[in-house]
Amino acid sequence: MIETHLHEGVFEVVFDNPPVNALSAKLRTGLAVAVADALADEAVTAIVLRGGKSFSAGADITEFDKPLSPPLLQDIIEILESGQKPIVAAIAGNALGGGLELALGCHYRIAAPGTRLGLPEVLLGILPGAGGTQRLPRLIGVEAALDMIVSGAPVSADKALAIGLVDQLASDNASLAADAIAYARTLTGPRRTGDLTVSADPAIFDKFAADNARKIANLRAPKACIESVRAATVLTLKEGLAKETELFLRLLKGDQSIALRHIFAAERTAAKIYDLPKVVSLRPIAKVGMVGAGTMGGGIAMNFLSAGVPVVILDLQQDALDRGVGVVRKNYDASSAKGRLTNEQVENAMGLLTPTLDFTALADCDLIIEAVYESMDIKKEVFSRLDSVAKPGAILASNTSLLSIDEIAAATGRPGDVLGLHFFSPANVMKLLEVVRGAETAADVLATVMNLARRIGKVPVVSRVCYGFIGNRMLDPRQTNAEALLLEGATPTQIDRVHNHFGMAMGPFEMIDLAGVDIGWHRDPSRIEGLKDALCAEGRWGQKTKAGFYDYDDRRKATPSPLVCDIVENLRKKTGTALREISEEEIVVRTLYTMVNEGAKILEEGIAQRASDIDVVWVYGYGWPRYRGGPMFWANQVGLKKIVDGLTRYAARMGRNFTLSPLLVRCAQHDLALDRSVIQEMQDAF
Ligand code: 3HC
Repeated sequence: MIETHLHEGVFEVVFDNPPVNALSAKLRTGLAVAVADALADEAVTAIVLRGGKSFSAGADITEFDKPLSPPLLQDIIEILESGQKPIVAAIAGNALGGGLELALGCHYRIAAPGTRLGLPEVLLGILPGAGGTQRLPRLIGVEAALDMIVSGAPVSADKALAIGLVDQLASDNASLAADAIAYARTLTGPRRTGDLTVSADPAIFDKFAADNARKIANLRAPKACIESVRAATVLTLKEGLAKETELFLRLLKGDQSIALRHIFAAERTAAKIYDLPKVVSLRPIAKVGMVGAGTMGGGIAMNFLSAGVPVVILDLQQDALDRGVGVVRKNYDASSAKGRLTNEQVENAMGLLTPTLDFTALADCDLIIEAVYESMDIKKEVFSRLDSVAKPGAILASNTSLLSIDEIAAATGRPGDVLGLHFFSPANVMKLLEVVRGAETAADVLATVMNLARRIGKVPVVSRVCYGFIGNRMLDPRQTNAEALLLEGATPTQIDRVHNHFGMAMGPFEMIDLAGVDIGWHRDPSRIEGLKDALCAEGRWGQKTKAGFYDYDDRRKATPSPLVCDIVENLRKKTGTALREISEEEIVVRTLYTMVNEGAKILEEGIAQRASDIDVVWVYGYGWPRYRGGPMFWANQVGLKKIVDGLTRYAARMGRNFTLSPLLVRCAQHDLALDRSVIQEMQDAF
């Protein structure tokens, strides 16, 4: 874990704790001993602290749930900073969180090109708790420090040099160790960041909070970060550190940080498939085929193009193909106009795209993704054609958001090569990828796409086959109840507001209007079976027709619609629904607790591997507030008994089809958290 080398007076401490060099208790102990030895050794004139492959990703997050064992990171930083010999941090890879704070405790910093330096604690609902909020503003000034600490975003080595966060850049990774030692030889004594002072106009902090008001609304950590940086400008280092510790400990124990840490771990756990063989060789994916050049097809293609993977995109008509390629070009140009991509990157990506009308052009693709109209007959036809043109070993994927992958796979002679890849719209932006595992999907096909998903920057979650998979299946009871509540007396604004206050990116009706009220509509104005049919018959298809559950102006601003009130009123009379007062509590039960109930059913049926996978789906695919940890995590925090009680109270209003999940009921009765382990423990009971 720790290696030390003496290079003619320069003492090099190399620490390595794979995979990310987290500063675990064992590593901290080793570091404290090595640094103390070096400081006491008269033969040593300077010290270099270097991480193995990467400097450090910071504190070991897994230790946060237990009492922290000494030496604390703050103690080591104190030893480093007060040391009488010059100490150099030699930084490569990542210097994040406590890792960067360790480097700030050193007197000088040298970084390899490509290094990322940042304080991402805020993303875990905490603040830098080992001096970061006190030393960073002293070193680089209040404004730059606020940007880094409150956004949590890392800076590059070049930027770090420009803002004074590092003193030198090494020529390359390989020469970092030698460059750091050579640098250390030139130093005559310590230079302590903690000795610097920093002042700022107090108005800066209020302005910063106001400028970022939307981003940090509902979140406690960014506000505490601002408060702690402000302390650096008015308190001594010692007092400022005490303030920082107080805020850190309060946040660490708070529900938001617990939820955010849950999601951090859940995202990584979701990538693990419990029943795959330990060693699976991956199929190479060098070229991708896209069937369908519509909005989804184009968006999906962009993921691969941006990752440098060539894509052949197919449509049946030239004009549809041209339109699809045009939309891809327009999206890339928009990114370039915003400065997110250079012209060269755009041209490189577009250069990898080959449009075609000919199925045989897909013959050498390693993965072919279908994104055509959501109809089983059409999908079967496409897959049977793909079966005849695709090379042996090619992976065939459907982007269906609800249809049976098993039925689609049966249209081919190679069901083991078939699976679902459910991208979310806009597919080039949304991080979630539901990977739908058919009954016959081969282990290496699954392992290959999980790996590929990370290559294109997606967060993959595995779902078994059921109608709507994990996400849309849970959406169903929410939307059904939201519509029923309108007939019973609620308004779209009332329901959406409950969801907005909860922290959802969009309420149920804002979401339908954006997605299109007409999705799944039978297009027969004489058949009005529900509210959505009635709206569609009036041409209220959502934002695209500037009218849906709300009216929209040219800037897509929504206002309540008197016409929708009339439509609801008519349907209420037609269906004989009694009008009554709808409480916020009822909205919460029928549109949020019902999702938890459906999630529990998904778990008990083995559709999701674990409860935390469901949380990842909702946070990354449906705008569930990250700081609430996802629906299953939230349910445990609310209390399952309360959820079951609420659902039982309103069961009669939710129609004959409503049933409580036996797993949910049992967990509530036995005071257990909802999870797969519970199912295993209770197997006999089921
Ligand atoms: N502590 C413990 N484990 C960590 C960790 C950390 N700080 N950072 C990552 N890991 C684990 C992951 O959980 C994962 O475990 P697994 O293999 O069992 O799934 C493994 O290391 C590899 O991580 P990734 O899959 O995320 O690897 P990547 O290469 O994609 O990303 C990374 C590397 C950019 C370092 C990313 O892991 C990351 O962002 N880590 C978190 C960094 C962070 O938030 N640091 C602040 C910690 S809090 C702190 O320092 C408090 C201090 O102020 C007192």
